[in-house]
Amino acid sequence: MKNFINLKDIPAADLRKILNDAKKRKNKRKKLSTLEVDKDQPLKGKLLIQMYEKQSSRTRLSFHIAINQLGAGSITIKASELHLGKGEESLVDTAKILSTYGDGFLLRTDSDKKIEDFSKNLTIPIVNLLSPSSHPCQVLSDIFTVEEIKKKSISKLNICWIGDCNNVLNSLIAASVKFKFNLNIGCPKNYRPPKFVMDWVKKNKRKINIFNDPKKAVKNADVVFSDKVVSINDKGNKAKKIKDFKNYRINQNLMKVTRPQSIFLHCLPRGNEVSEDVFLGKQSRVWQQALNRVHVQKGILLYIFNKLR
Ligand code: CP
Ligand code: NVA
Repeated sequence: MKNFINLKDIPAADLRKILNDAKKRKNKRKKLSTLEVDKDQPLKGKLLIQMYEKQSSRTRLSFHIAINQLGAGSITIKASELHLGKGEESLVDTAKILSTYGDGFLLRTDSDKKIEDFSKNLTIPIVNLLSPSSHPCQVLSDIFTVEEIKKKSISKLNICWIGDCNNVLNSLIAASVKFKFNLNIGCPKNYRPPKFVMDWVKKNKRKINIFNDPKKAVKNADVVFSDKVVSINDKGNKAKKIKDFKNYRINQNLMKVTRPQSIFLHCLPRGNEVSEDVFLGKQSRVWQQALNRVHVQKGILLYIFNKLR
């Protein structure tokens, strides 16, 4: 059994194995409909428990489909419906109960510590469905989408992120180290990745480039990523933050500086950080990106149960 909490803690070879498995499975089920089970039913009989302490559309639905396609079953619970949520039962006892009934626990939470505490007390694997510091399922799936569209290893591409230093960017930075790709970041000075993140990159003998000028950041990019300026877990002054990012909106002018054939990706939901014509334009691959979550999350589920081929 393995956990899937942060990309930085997972060996690069395992991440690659997840992507390879996802590719094979995606190709094999082209003619199957949404809830038809993969022929080998690799997770037959298993119960995955999903818990969301924060809102989610894509993660919730794509995991529901992924779990079903692998032959497993799922139940989605809300923290507020548990004794845990009301503070009447400890995390330790809740973890014991989850491990008694379920085979895996999938958690979206506003506390990194809660994921860590669960991981210490569960005897079943845990998957991080988004925390304040990371969104590993999203980013691993995005690597898959980039390679699927570009038909080459991401290590040969220039990747650019325009936006906040948030959970998705943290996971993208970890991915840039694991998959060894060039990463440019365009953001205002006060929103740069923290020193401990940059130190970790350096310790792993990689470099990321940070620009205040978004035009410099996107120059020669093969892929431009963005995300909402204000994240679910943001507690600060939202109006100020949006104002600070006003020159970082992705529009056609900015996309002109990228390489020919460049693509635009966004995990969704979106805000004002991207213009309507870019988001709905021909460089945008956001719907393909969202759908691929299903396929890569199947690989992640197989990984936690040591069932990757
Ligand atoms: N991208 C993503 O994780 O979307 P949801 O918040 O809707 O799950
Ligand atoms: N950074 C965003 C991602 C949403 C999927 C957030 O945490 O709200």
